[in-house]
Amino acid sequence: MGKKVTKAIIPAAGLGTRFLPATKAMPKEMLPILNKPTIQYIVEEAVESGIEDIIIVTGKGKRAIEDHFDNNFELEDNLFKKEKYELLEEVRASSKVEIHYIRQKEAKGLGHAIWCARKFIGNEPFAVLLGDDIVQSKKPCLRQLIEQYDQSQASIIGVQQVPEEETHRYGIIDPSSKIGKRYRVKSFVEKPKKGTAPSSLAILGRYILTPEIFPFLGQHNIGKGGEIQLTDAIQQLNGIQNVFAYEFEGRRYDVGEMLGFIRTTMEFALENQKYGPEVEIMMTELLSNRKIMSYES
Ligand code: UTP
Repeated sequence: MGKKVTKAIIPAAGLGTRFLPATKAMPKEMLPILNKPTIQYIVEEAVESGIEDIIIVTGKGKRAIEDHFDNNFELEDNLFKKEKYELLEEVRASSKVEIHYIRQKEAKGLGHAIWCARKFIGNEPFAVLLGDDIVQSKKPCLRQLIEQYDQSQASIIGVQQVPEEETHRYGIIDPSSKIGKRYRVKSFVEKPKKGTAPSSLAILGRYILTPEIFPFLGQHNIGKGGEIQLTDAIQQLNGIQNVFAYEFEGRRYDVGEMLGFIRTTMEFALENQKYGPEVEIMMTELLSNRKIMSYES
């Protein structure tokens, strides 16, 4: 029996420049979709996938993340006294998981953030979840990858098809063969130039990696955008052992950039049991008001 995947890294030390000025003093991971910070969706997916220990890589100005997953006795006491039990449960839910923190002193790139957590991981396979992608699926996305890992004991990277004109924004795989939803991979390319992507299969923020990746990350090679890239180290790892890609099932929401964030907020609001019906009326009204205004002008 090989080792089980029980640890996960959630890197959250990036600068979040795409959401400035909101992210000047507030971590982008704390921006909410409705009433839940994006990072909480990610932590919940990890827990539902069977992860026992989570390490969040934080940086300057990320204190709010630690506070969010901590107990807040004053608030809990206040909600209890006012008999707001439902809210109390929701507040407590975010402090039930065991979370560890480590700081990345300088935002040198995603690969460097993962490397910072190497001592916590030790010699075990581990998961990585990025907060830029929220995935809704019957079986949690990370669980799908862990099940694949359990079969092969090899690193496995979550991918999905993206529109061809967007491939330059992602890490892209060059697949060599496919069995079911699983690909053997010739190479992993970080943000290929427009028109040069080897496929439209993009790496979407979910990884299971073996610890043999750490020596490659430790080389601190500078890649695209002047950052130490995780994709580059995965490409090196694929040179010494198989790294597979797996086309996971589920609807993926891109919350790492403005338009994706707005769309996700609208979709979640429409699907929300309590607010959905009113939001739908609101949106229809807004659109017809705009039409009337454009006729008038
Ligand atoms: P992104 O590039 O999406 O995040 O990195 P960012 O740098 O925060 O955002 P922009 O591009 O400036 O708007 C993907 C993930 O890697 C983490 C980020 O927090 C994010 O979860 N990251 C990135 C780090 O932890 N450290 C880094 O040095 C860079």
